[in-house]
Amino acid sequence: MSELLKNPRLQWLGSEFLRPYVYVRPENRIATPGQSFKTDWFKMSPIYKNPLRMDEVDFADQILRLETHAFAASNMPMPRWVFYDCAIMPGFVAGFAIHRSKATPEMIKILQPADSTEWLPVSLFICIPAMAHKEWIAHNLCSINSLVPKEQSIYGLGFLSKAFALWYANVETLCGITQWKSPAVRLHTHYGDFEVLTAYTPVHSYAHTLTYRMSTNVLEWKRFFTHEQDPDFEKRFSPAGFEVDPQDENSLKSFQTKLEAGGTRYFLNAAQIRSQPLDARLTVYVRKG
Ligand SMILES: CC(C)(COP(=O)(O)OP(=O)(O)OC[C@H]1O[C@@H](n2cnc3c(N)ncnc32)[C@H](O)[C@@H]1OP(=O)(O)O)[C@@H](O)C(=O)NCCC(=O)NCCS
Repeated sequence: MSELLKNPRLQWLGSEFLRPYVYVRPENRIATPGQSFKTDWFKMSPIYKNPLRMDEVDFADQILRLETHAFAASNMPMPRWVFYDCAIMPGFVAGFAIHRSKATPEMIKILQPADSTEWLPVSLFICIPAMAHKEWIAHNLCSINSLVPKEQSIYGLGFLSKAFALWYANVETLCGITQWKSPAVRLHTHYGDFEVLTAYTPVHSYAHTLTYRMSTNVLEWKRFFTHEQDPDFEKRFSPAGFEVDPQDENSLKSFQTKLEAGGTRYFLNAAQIRSQPLDARLTVYVRKG
Protein backbone atom coordinates (compact mmCIF):
# COMPACT_ATOMS: atom_id res chain seq x y z
CA MET A 1 0.00 0.00 0.00
CA SER A 2 2.88 2.39 0.74
CA GLU A 3 3.74 2.63 -2.98
CA LEU A 4 0.12 3.37 -3.87
CA LEU A 5 -0.19 5.95 -1.10
CA LYS A 6 2.55 8.02 -2.71
CA ASN A 7 -0.14 9.04 -5.21
CA PRO A 8 -1.85 11.93 -3.37
CA ARG A 9 -5.19 11.06 -5.01
CA LEU A 10 -5.11 7.62 -3.39
CA GLN A 11 -4.34 8.55 0.19
CA TRP A 12 -7.93 7.80 1.15
CA LEU A 13 -6.94 4.13 0.95
CA GLY A 14 -5.03 4.56 4.22
CA SER A 15 -7.91 6.37 5.92
CA GLU A 16 -9.87 4.88 8.80
CA PHE A 17 -13.00 6.54 7.41
CA LEU A 18 -13.14 4.54 4.16
CA ARG A 19 -13.04 0.79 4.61
CA PRO A 20 -13.74 -2.19 2.39
CA TYR A 21 -16.90 -4.10 3.19
CA VAL A 22 -17.89 -7.71 2.57
CA TYR A 23 -21.65 -8.30 2.39
CA VAL A 24 -21.80 -12.07 2.07
CA ARG A 25 -24.00 -14.72 3.67
CA PRO A 26 -22.04 -16.80 6.19
CA GLU A 27 -21.96 -19.96 4.04
CA ASN A 28 -20.35 -18.02 1.15
CA ARG A 29 -17.64 -16.36 3.25
CA ILE A 30 -14.14 -16.86 1.78
CA ALA A 31 -12.20 -19.31 3.97
CA THR A 32 -8.74 -17.96 3.09
CA PRO A 33 -9.07 -14.35 1.93
CA GLY A 34 -6.25 -12.83 -0.08
CA GLN A 35 -4.22 -16.03 -0.44
CA SER A 36 -3.78 -16.18 -4.21
CA PHE A 37 -2.28 -12.79 -4.97
CA LYS A 38 0.47 -10.83 -3.29
CA THR A 39 -0.47 -7.20 -2.75
CA ASP A 40 -0.22 -4.86 0.21
CA TRP A 41 -2.97 -2.57 -1.00
CA PHE A 42 -5.74 -3.80 1.31
CA LYS A 43 -4.38 -3.76 4.83
CA MET A 44 -7.44 -2.26 6.50
CA SER A 45 -9.83 -4.79 7.98
CA PRO A 46 -13.13 -5.10 6.12
CA ILE A 47 -16.51 -4.42 7.62
CA TYR A 48 -18.53 -7.65 7.58
CA LYS A 49 -22.27 -7.60 7.11
CA ASN A 50 -24.67 -10.51 6.97
CA PRO A 51 -27.32 -9.90 4.30
CA LEU A 52 -29.63 -12.52 5.83
CA ARG A 53 -30.10 -10.51 9.02
CA MET A 54 -33.12 -8.21 9.34
CA ASP A 55 -31.02 -5.62 11.14
CA GLU A 56 -28.60 -5.35 8.16
CA VAL A 57 -31.28 -4.57 5.59
CA ASP A 58 -30.47 -0.86 5.67
CA PHE A 59 -27.11 -1.72 4.11
CA ALA A 60 -28.88 -3.49 1.23
CA ASP A 61 -31.28 -0.58 0.85
CA GLN A 62 -28.35 1.81 0.48
CA ILE A 63 -26.52 -0.47 -2.00
CA LEU A 64 -29.65 -0.62 -4.12
CA ARG A 65 -30.15 3.15 -4.03
CA LEU A 66 -26.53 3.62 -5.15
CA GLU A 67 -26.94 1.01 -7.87
CA THR A 68 -30.28 2.38 -9.10
CA HIS A 69 -28.81 5.87 -9.49
CA ALA A 70 -25.58 4.63 -11.09
CA PHE A 71 -27.37 2.54 -13.72
CA ALA A 72 -30.23 4.96 -14.42
CA ALA A 73 -28.44 6.43 -17.44
CA SER A 74 -27.89 3.02 -19.04
CA ASN A 75 -31.38 1.82 -18.07
CA MET A 76 -30.01 -1.29 -16.35
CA PRO A 77 -30.78 -0.88 -12.62
CA MET A 78 -30.84 -4.20 -10.79
CA PRO A 79 -34.24 -5.33 -9.47
CA ARG A 80 -34.19 -6.04 -5.73
CA TRP A 81 -35.01 -9.71 -6.23
CA VAL A 82 -32.08 -10.07 -8.68
CA PHE A 83 -29.79 -8.68 -5.97
CA TYR A 84 -31.02 -11.38 -3.61
CA ASP A 85 -31.48 -14.36 -5.97
CA CYS A 86 -28.53 -13.78 -8.31
CA ALA A 87 -25.99 -11.97 -6.12
CA ILE A 88 -26.43 -12.46 -2.39
CA MET A 89 -27.46 -16.13 -2.47
CA PRO A 90 -24.88 -17.49 -4.98
CA GLY A 91 -22.13 -14.88 -4.87
CA PHE A 92 -19.77 -12.41 -3.29
CA VAL A 93 -20.72 -8.76 -2.71
CA ALA A 94 -18.08 -6.22 -1.69
CA GLY A 95 -17.03 -2.60 -2.04
CA PHE A 96 -15.99 0.38 0.06
CA ALA A 97 -18.00 2.12 2.75
CA ILE A 98 -17.53 5.64 4.10
CA HIS A 99 -18.01 6.59 7.73
CA ARG A 100 -21.14 8.67 8.15
CA SER A 101 -19.15 11.54 9.65
CA LYS A 102 -17.26 11.95 6.32
CA ALA A 103 -20.15 11.46 3.90
CA THR A 104 -21.14 14.61 1.99
CA PRO A 105 -24.77 15.82 1.93
CA GLU A 106 -24.92 14.68 -1.73
CA MET A 107 -23.88 11.15 -0.70
CA ILE A 108 -26.43 11.09 2.12
CA LYS A 109 -29.11 12.23 -0.32
CA ILE A 110 -28.37 9.34 -2.68
CA LEU A 111 -27.94 6.62 -0.05
CA GLN A 112 -30.54 7.74 2.53
CA PRO A 113 -29.04 5.76 5.41
CA ALA A 114 -31.14 5.04 8.50
CA ASP A 115 -30.41 7.41 11.42
CA SER A 116 -28.51 4.71 13.32
CA THR A 117 -26.31 3.65 10.35
CA GLU A 118 -22.59 4.24 10.82
CA TRP A 119 -21.11 2.98 7.49
CA LEU A 120 -22.45 3.95 4.05
CA PRO A 121 -21.60 1.83 0.96
CA VAL A 122 -20.14 4.08 -1.75
CA SER A 123 -19.21 1.37 -4.23
CA LEU A 124 -20.28 -2.11 -5.22
CA PHE A 125 -18.74 -5.10 -6.94
CA ILE A 126 -20.54 -8.41 -7.24
CA CYS A 127 -19.09 -11.63 -8.61
CA ILE A 128 -20.62 -15.08 -8.83
CA PRO A 129 -18.84 -18.43 -9.18
CA ALA A 130 -19.50 -20.11 -12.54
CA MET A 131 -19.91 -23.76 -13.50
CA ALA A 132 -16.67 -23.59 -15.48
CA HIS A 133 -13.66 -24.64 -13.43
CA LYS A 134 -12.37 -21.81 -11.20
CA GLU A 135 -14.24 -19.22 -13.25
CA TRP A 136 -16.23 -16.35 -11.76
CA ILE A 137 -18.66 -13.94 -13.43
CA ALA A 138 -18.59 -10.20 -12.70
CA HIS A 139 -22.22 -9.25 -12.17
CA ASN A 140 -22.07 -5.59 -11.14
CA LEU A 141 -19.68 -2.70 -10.63
CA CYS A 142 -20.57 0.82 -9.63
CA SER A 143 -19.21 3.69 -7.60
CA ILE A 144 -20.64 6.90 -6.21
CA ASN A 145 -18.08 8.90 -8.20
CA SER A 146 -20.38 8.97 -11.20
CA LEU A 147 -23.08 10.64 -9.04
CA VAL A 148 -21.34 13.32 -6.98
CA PRO A 149 -19.60 16.60 -7.95
CA LYS A 150 -16.04 15.98 -9.17
CA GLU A 151 -14.44 17.58 -6.10
CA GLN A 152 -16.17 14.98 -3.90
CA SER A 153 -15.09 11.98 -5.93
CA ILE A 154 -12.83 9.35 -4.40
CA TYR A 155 -10.28 8.67 -7.12
CA GLY A 156 -9.88 5.00 -8.02
CA LEU A 157 -12.94 3.93 -6.04
CA GLY A 158 -14.51 1.83 -8.80
CA PHE A 159 -11.20 0.29 -9.85
CA LEU A 160 -10.12 -0.53 -6.31
CA SER A 161 -13.51 -1.99 -5.37
CA LYS A 162 -13.14 -4.65 -8.05
CA ALA A 163 -9.45 -5.15 -7.23
CA PHE A 164 -10.29 -5.64 -3.55
CA ALA A 165 -12.95 -8.25 -4.35
CA LEU A 166 -10.69 -10.17 -6.77
CA TRP A 167 -7.91 -10.18 -4.19
CA TYR A 168 -10.09 -11.03 -1.20
CA ALA A 169 -12.04 -13.84 -2.92
CA ASN A 170 -8.95 -15.26 -4.72
CA VAL A 171 -10.58 -14.83 -8.13
CA GLU A 172 -8.11 -16.11 -10.72
CA THR A 173 -10.31 -16.12 -13.82
CA LEU A 174 -13.15 -13.69 -14.30
CA CYS A 175 -15.63 -13.30 -17.13
CA GLY A 176 -17.62 -10.11 -17.39
CA ILE A 177 -20.07 -8.18 -19.43
CA THR A 178 -19.93 -4.54 -20.41
CA GLN A 179 -20.96 -2.26 -23.22
CA TRP A 180 -18.57 -0.99 -25.88
CA LYS A 181 -17.91 2.73 -25.24
CA SER A 182 -18.68 2.41 -21.51
CA PRO A 183 -16.12 4.18 -19.26
CA ALA A 184 -15.99 0.89 -17.35
CA VAL A 185 -14.01 -0.71 -20.20
CA ARG A 186 -11.06 1.42 -19.06
CA LEU A 187 -11.21 -0.25 -15.66
CA HIS A 188 -12.02 -3.82 -16.71
CA THR A 189 -9.03 -4.07 -19.05
CA HIS A 190 -6.55 -3.30 -16.26
CA TYR A 191 -6.81 -6.41 -14.10
CA GLY A 192 -4.97 -8.85 -16.37
CA ASP A 193 -4.87 -9.99 -20.02
CA PHE A 194 -8.24 -9.08 -21.50
CA GLU A 195 -9.72 -11.58 -23.94
CA VAL A 196 -12.86 -10.84 -25.93
CA LEU A 197 -15.43 -13.65 -25.84
CA THR A 198 -18.25 -11.87 -27.67
CA ALA A 199 -18.09 -8.61 -29.59
CA TYR A 200 -21.74 -8.47 -30.69
CA THR A 201 -24.22 -10.04 -28.28
CA PRO A 202 -27.84 -10.04 -29.46
CA VAL A 203 -28.90 -12.36 -26.64
CA HIS A 204 -28.25 -9.47 -24.19
CA SER A 205 -30.71 -6.56 -23.82
CA TYR A 206 -28.03 -4.46 -25.54
CA ALA A 207 -26.50 -6.18 -28.56
CA HIS A 208 -23.47 -3.84 -28.45
CA THR A 209 -22.36 -5.74 -25.39
CA LEU A 210 -18.83 -7.05 -25.02
CA THR A 211 -18.18 -10.24 -23.04
CA TYR A 212 -14.66 -10.76 -21.74
CA ARG A 213 -12.48 -13.16 -19.82
CA MET A 214 -9.41 -12.12 -17.85
CA SER A 215 -6.77 -13.79 -15.74
CA THR A 216 -5.99 -11.78 -12.66
CA ASN A 217 -2.50 -10.25 -12.71
CA VAL A 218 -1.80 -7.89 -9.81
CA LEU A 219 1.21 -6.44 -11.67
CA GLU A 220 -1.20 -4.90 -14.16
CA TRP A 221 -3.25 -3.19 -11.44
CA LYS A 222 -0.69 -0.52 -10.59
CA ARG A 223 -0.50 0.48 -14.26
CA PHE A 224 -4.08 1.71 -13.94
CA PHE A 225 -2.65 4.46 -11.73
CA THR A 226 0.68 5.01 -13.47
CA HIS A 227 -0.87 5.00 -16.97
CA GLU A 228 2.06 2.87 -18.22
CA GLN A 229 1.86 0.23 -20.89
CA ASP A 230 2.77 -3.33 -19.86
CA PRO A 231 6.48 -3.36 -20.92
CA ASP A 232 6.05 -6.94 -22.17
CA PHE A 233 2.83 -6.37 -24.09
CA GLU A 234 4.47 -6.28 -27.49
CA LYS A 235 6.60 -9.30 -26.66
CA ARG A 236 3.49 -11.29 -25.77
CA PHE A 237 0.92 -9.99 -28.28
CA SER A 238 0.89 -9.01 -31.93
CA PRO A 239 -1.83 -7.21 -33.93
CA ALA A 240 -4.41 -9.64 -35.32
CA GLY A 241 -4.55 -7.64 -38.54
CA PHE A 242 -7.88 -5.90 -37.99
CA GLU A 243 -9.42 -3.22 -35.79
CA VAL A 244 -12.79 -3.01 -34.07
CA ASP A 245 -14.87 0.15 -34.25
CA PRO A 246 -17.05 0.40 -31.11
CA GLN A 247 -19.39 2.79 -32.95
CA ASP A 248 -20.03 0.56 -35.94
CA GLU A 249 -22.40 -2.40 -35.62
CA ASN A 250 -21.00 -4.00 -38.78
CA SER A 251 -17.52 -3.91 -37.28
CA LEU A 252 -18.79 -5.56 -34.08
CA LYS A 253 -20.59 -8.24 -36.11
CA SER A 254 -17.53 -8.86 -38.25
CA PHE A 255 -15.41 -9.34 -35.10
CA GLN A 256 -18.10 -11.62 -33.66
CA THR A 257 -18.00 -13.75 -36.82
CA LYS A 258 -14.25 -14.22 -36.34
CA LEU A 259 -14.81 -15.20 -32.71
CA GLU A 260 -17.50 -17.70 -33.67
CA ALA A 261 -15.16 -19.27 -36.24
CA GLY A 262 -13.09 -20.43 -33.26
CA GLY A 263 -9.47 -21.46 -33.14
CA THR A 264 -8.05 -18.01 -32.30
CA ARG A 265 -8.25 -16.05 -29.08
CA TYR A 266 -8.45 -12.25 -29.42
CA PHE A 267 -7.32 -9.62 -26.92
CA LEU A 268 -7.49 -5.85 -26.37
CA ASN A 269 -4.74 -3.54 -25.14
CA ALA A 270 -5.54 -1.77 -21.84
CA ALA A 271 -3.08 1.06 -22.48
CA GLN A 272 -4.65 1.85 -25.85
CA ILE A 273 -8.15 1.96 -24.38
CA ARG A 274 -7.00 4.25 -21.59
CA SER A 275 -5.26 6.71 -23.88
CA GLN A 276 -7.91 7.42 -26.49
CA PRO A 277 -11.60 8.40 -26.58
CA LEU A 278 -14.08 5.68 -25.63
CA ASP A 279 -15.53 5.52 -29.15
CA ALA A 280 -12.18 5.27 -30.96
CA ARG A 281 -11.20 2.26 -33.08
CA LEU A 282 -9.21 -0.40 -31.24
CA THR A 283 -6.47 -2.71 -32.45
CA VAL A 284 -7.30 -6.37 -31.86
CA TYR A 285 -4.40 -8.62 -30.79
CA VAL A 286 -3.51 -12.30 -30.75
CA ARG A 287 -1.08 -14.00 -28.41
CA LYS A 288 2.35 -14.65 -29.87
CA GLY A 289 3.76 -18.14 -30.11
C1 LIG B 1 -17.71 2.97 -14.40
C2 LIG B 1 -17.52 3.29 -12.93
C3 LIG B 1 -17.67 2.03 -12.09
C4 LIG B 1 -16.12 3.88 -12.74
O1 LIG B 1 -15.86 4.06 -11.38
P1 LIG B 1 -15.12 5.38 -10.86
O2 LIG B 1 -15.03 5.25 -9.37
O3 LIG B 1 -15.79 6.57 -11.42
O4 LIG B 1 -13.70 5.27 -11.55
P2 LIG B 1 -12.26 5.24 -10.86
O5 LIG B 1 -12.09 6.47 -10.02
O6 LIG B 1 -11.99 3.93 -10.25
O7 LIG B 1 -11.34 5.36 -12.14
C5 LIG B 1 -11.21 6.58 -12.79
C6 LIG B 1 -10.85 6.27 -14.23
O8 LIG B 1 -11.96 5.65 -14.87
C7 LIG B 1 -12.18 6.24 -16.14
N1 LIG B 1 -13.47 6.93 -16.10
C8 LIG B 1 -14.33 6.98 -15.05
N2 LIG B 1 -15.45 7.66 -15.41
C9 LIG B 1 -15.27 8.04 -16.68
C10 LIG B 1 -16.07 8.74 -17.63
N3 LIG B 1 -17.27 9.23 -17.31
N4 LIG B 1 -15.56 8.94 -18.88
C11 LIG B 1 -14.36 8.48 -19.21
N5 LIG B 1 -13.56 7.78 -18.38
C12 LIG B 1 -14.01 7.57 -17.13
C13 LIG B 1 -11.01 7.19 -16.37
O9 LIG B 1 -10.02 6.46 -17.07
C14 LIG B 1 -10.54 7.52 -14.97
O10 LIG B 1 -9.17 7.68 -14.78
P3 LIG B 1 -8.29 8.82 -15.42
O11 LIG B 1 -9.10 10.05 -15.27
O12 LIG B 1 -7.02 8.80 -14.60
O13 LIG B 1 -8.08 8.38 -16.84
C15 LIG B 1 -18.54 4.38 -12.45
O14 LIG B 1 -18.43 5.50 -13.31
C16 LIG B 1 -19.98 3.92 -12.44
O15 LIG B 1 -20.46 3.47 -11.41
N6 LIG B 1 -20.69 4.08 -13.58
C17 LIG B 1 -22.11 3.73 -13.67
C18 LIG B 1 -22.35 2.23 -13.63
C19 LIG B 1 -21.59 1.48 -14.70
O16 LIG B 1 -21.63 1.83 -15.87
N7 LIG B 1 -20.90 0.40 -14.28
C20 LIG B 1 -20.12 -0.44 -15.14
C21 LIG B 1 -20.89 -1.62 -15.61
S1 LIG B 1 -19.89 -2.71 -16.60
